[in-house]
Amino acid sequence: MMDKRSNLNKSYNITTFGCQMNEHDSETLAGMLEELGYIENANRREADVAIINTCSVRENADKRFFGTLGQLKKVKEERPETVVAVCGCMMQQQHIIDTLKAKYPWVDLVFGTHNIHQFPSLLNNVLNERNKVVDVWDNGGDIIEGLPAKRMYPFKAYVNIMYGCNNFCTYCIVPYTRGRERSRHPGEIVNEVKALAASGVKEITLLGQNVNSYGKGSNFTQDFADLIYMLNDIDGIERIRFMTSHPKDLSNKLIHAFQKCDKLCNSIHLPVQSGSTEILTRMNRKYSKEDYLQLIEKLRDVIPDIAITTDIIVGFPGESDEDFNETMDLVEKVRFDSAFTFLYSIRKGTPAEKYKDQVPESIKHQRFDRLVDRLNEISQEINKSYEGNIVLVLAEGSSKTNTKMISGRTVTGKLVNFKGPAELTGKLVPIRITEGKTFSLNGDIEK
Ligand code: 5AD
Ligand code: SF4
Repeated sequence: MMDKRSNLNKSYNITTFGCQMNEHDSETLAGMLEELGYIENANRREADVAIINTCSVRENADKRFFGTLGQLKKVKEERPETVVAVCGCMMQQQHIIDTLKAKYPWVDLVFGTHNIHQFPSLLNNVLNERNKVVDVWDNGGDIIEGLPAKRMYPFKAYVNIMYGCNNFCTYCIVPYTRGRERSRHPGEIVNEVKALAASGVKEITLLGQNVNSYGKGSNFTQDFADLIYMLNDIDGIERIRFMTSHPKDLSNKLIHAFQKCDKLCNSIHLPVQSGSTEILTRMNRKYSKEDYLQLIEKLRDVIPDIAITTDIIVGFPGESDEDFNETMDLVEKVRFDSAFTFLYSIRKGTPAEKYKDQVPESIKHQRFDRLVDRLNEISQEINKSYEGNIVLVLAEGSSKTNTKMISGRTVTGKLVNFKGPAELTGKLVPIRITEGKTFSLNGDIEK
């Protein structure tokens, strides 16, 4: 193992693409590096160890990754002792590894999503033997507990509750890059959250590709709702959030947990992907437009003020004008608080790659613009309805551009900006909303 003192004054930089899962993996990598004595360096080009944690889900992921990586070539030429490491979802795809080997031979270390826990020893190999190391595991194997993590905020934390996905939506690469579903034991999660609470964390976000299937196929009996009840009892934790939920697996038991668990925040991210039942079938989502609308009705019956956010893909192969209009209609009926919208793009190795009738780019863009305009109007209308209300905001810190302004989030997940001292960071502050905008709210501290 490496000696901590030998890394004195050495620094690291991690560039993270993609979802919260990746953000959290980067926190683990940072935690391991700090245990080895490295300090964070905000400049990728000056760090002794530069890591790029990649995503293969987002639009143009390949281009963005190789663009960023390309910037490090010069660094490597000037300071060959710099360690350049790449990891994350993309590394689980063979064609990426092939490209790296052929065009980026100066990369020192390549590892995947399943062997992050090995990073210190992989790094050790690179440093001591100056070998190029490519180590990517195909399968998840056992869950490794107890890895250190360097959290971005002292008062809020992400907690992985499960890894992988079994759903095989036909457009999605995740089941291939993150492997099969594996759930962490509830005892391990409770212990982690207790430790987080003891260190001052007030808000936790439970992470999994499909948290609603937590516990399935495991050797314990608790399901996701049971887990929420267990976490709700932990002193010091004030807010519990989770993502992501698959509509097909959202149980009545979970819906009722919103009523019973005072710490469970009134918000849910429930990706719909499309409003056309035919497209949903071809996406292998396993619910219809009507199923989704009924689910929303049920949620709002039980939790009237719940904020609902979603993901929508525009231009899935075979999407006709009628199909797209079904999506517009669903948006009108549900009135999402906000949505992530994606232009469909091919992921190599997924079933939809082979689908005929890919939608022309120009049509995709037209539909995308129409959808985003309407989604934004609705977001603004909903946000305007907050004006005059007093909401509790967990203050996250001062804004980058104006240090007198603080931002934070409501229990429904809305971003709120208000004037106040930086000392409020990490506290729950009552705010009177003065203005509802498309993506955020403005307000004043309520005295
Ligand atoms: N094209 C466009 N969007 C995609 N997503 C996943 N795969 C693709 C793809 N091939 C979107 C889905 C998912 C979100 C994280 O990314 O909407 O919910
Ligand atoms: Fe991808 Fe579907 Fe799994 Fe989500 S549920 S990670 S979209 S396969």
